[in-house]
Amino acid sequence: MAVLPIVQWPDPRLSQKADPADVDALQSVIPDMFDTMYAAQGRGLAGPQVGVMARVFVMDCGWKEGEPEPRAMLNPVIMASEKVDVIAEEGCLSIPGVLVPVTRPVAVTVQWTSETGEIHMDDFDGFEARCIQHEMDHLAGLVTFDRIDPVLRQELEDTYLADLS
Ligand code: NI
Repeated sequence: MAVLPIVQWPDPRLSQKADPADVDALQSVIPDMFDTMYAAQGRGLAGPQVGVMARVFVMDCGWKEGEPEPRAMLNPVIMASEKVDVIAEEGCLSIPGVLVPVTRPVAVTVQWTSETGEIHMDDFDGFEARCIQHEMDHLAGLVTFDRIDPVLRQELEDTYLADLS
């Protein structure tokens, strides 16, 4: 187990689509992804954020509240989305210090493969639904900046890049 370096935006890997995930090939890296996520005080981490260009992410939306629920999802697919959207501010371990208001469906039905190769399907709402959609965006080469209007995007990007320099 190891804490991996987290790829920081605007690294081009964050704008690339990830490849289908292979359960066997990812066995050693999934524990490292959990270690990395917890060490960074995060609730979700996608493969491309640690340079693993496979359709895999880890999440644990409750650990900070003392209700850990670690989950790894490989090759996740959104089977259905609630028609009602909600807006909320999202942070991202690859864009530290920036909160971006993102509009997303309030609930989703997701099918995924677990790290042991089992196929699951379940409904998610609240923070979990948001987290899953955020992490799935990473697998599609999208970050929070790609989900907002150009004017706000420019403003937030400028602030972020100014802080980096
Ligand atoms: Ni993120």
